Amino acid sequence: MKAMAAALAVCTSFIGVSVVLAQSQTSDKPPVGAAPKYDPAIYAELQKAPEKARKRGNPLQNDPDAVAAGGILFEQHCAECHGDGARGGKGPSLRAAEVQGAAPGAIFWILTNGVVRKGMPVWSKLPEPQRWQLVRYIKSLGGPAPTAESSAPKP
Ligand code: HEC
Repeated sequence: MKAMAAALAVCTSFIGVSVVLAQSQTSDKPPVGAAPKYDPAIYAELQKAPEKARKRGNPLQNDPDAVAAGGILFEQHCAECHGDGARGGKGPSLRAAEVQGAAPGAIFWILTNGVVRKGMPVWSKLPEPQRWQLVRYIKSLGGPAPTAESSAPKP
């Protein structure tokens, strides 16, 4: 009987922790002055991009105007949630290693499909070149432009 009670106690404390975690993820108002969110769970969606989508190269990879164009689109459509310069706000920072290390095709896939149940809208209404411009802009925030090697999908 004691063992039963102990097991029950472990279970309930576990449930407590999950509830707290769930709540911290759904709250859309981060505390004032909070550091950008770096919770890896937020970015798990990028890992779900199918192989084929992930492998797609950015057709605008060498377009010199794509980053600036993407920056303007970002201001118009994304900054309200992801913050100025994608540093995070209502939505997560896009400067996190999980995003910067993701294949361009994976980010494009997220823009095309959204993560609707978690508040990230679908952007398929933006023409494909604009989505690729946004990918270039996001990738430009994390240091030097990706080489063919670093943008290849991770094993
Ligand atoms: C209405 C608010 C909102 C807008 C507008 C918005 N996003 Fe998001 N975005 C989110 C939220 C919330 C998440 C986190 C989703 C999750 O937990 O997986 C997210 C996640 C992402 C991610 C990471 C994917 C992941 O794994 O979650 C990328 C990349 C992204 N957004 C890009 C953009 C771009 C580019 C735009 C503009 C075209 C944009 N977002 C507009 C709310 C928004």
